[in-house]
Amino acid sequence: MPSTLTRTLAGEAATVELGAALAPLLVPGLSIHLSGDLGAGKTTLVRALLRALGERGRVRSPTFTLVEPYCAGGLEIAHLDLYRLQDPAEWAESGFDEYLGGRTVTLIEWPERAAALLPPPDLRVLLELDGGGRRATLTAQGPAGERVVEALRGPRADDHAST
Ligand SMILES: Nc1ncnc2c1ncn2[C@@H]1O[C@H](COP(=O)(O)OP(=O)(O)O)[C@@H](O)[C@H]1O
Ligand SMILES: [Mg+2]
Repeated sequence: MPSTLTRTLAGEAATVELGAALAPLLVPGLSIHLSGDLGAGKTTLVRALLRALGERGRVRSPTFTLVEPYCAGGLEIAHLDLYRLQDPAEWAESGFDEYLGGRTVTLIEWPERAAALLPPPDLRVLLELDGGGRRATLTAQGPAGERVVEALRGPRADDHAST
């Protein structure tokens, strides 16, 4: 059973806090898929994560470029957004699969657009609207993802954790 962690994010500050908490847990090659509707907070989370790693420049949504690469916190990080792919085959044609399978950390919004052409990630993050805020569900897909979820779970009392 993959381990899952659910966290309520009452406002944008909580999303930023989750991004900052994820930042020091990234390791080379880690892959995270971020799912949720437009405006759910996927880019907000990635931006906070990059800021926490020391990225000072502009962090723009890769909606039009498909990918924005960064070097931050001693890691190579590729932030991808596949929303605009019309067909999974476009993913293969893009050539950006070169970011996968190596040392680059990949943070991928709208992974569903590439369907089965994307390998499964180490960690899935689902962001959903929850009243005026959001609910984040993190699901580990393997040992590297498990380590992230367990580290995030920590001793905090406000986690609604299940395994
Ligand atoms: N926990 C939260 N509660 C309420 N609003 C949030 C929360 N997290 C982020 N937001 C807001 O929701 C919007 C999310 O936009 P964005 O991060 O671009 O979403 P996505 O990348 O998923 O399309 C931003 O306006 C942000 O301020
Ligand atoms: Mg986005």
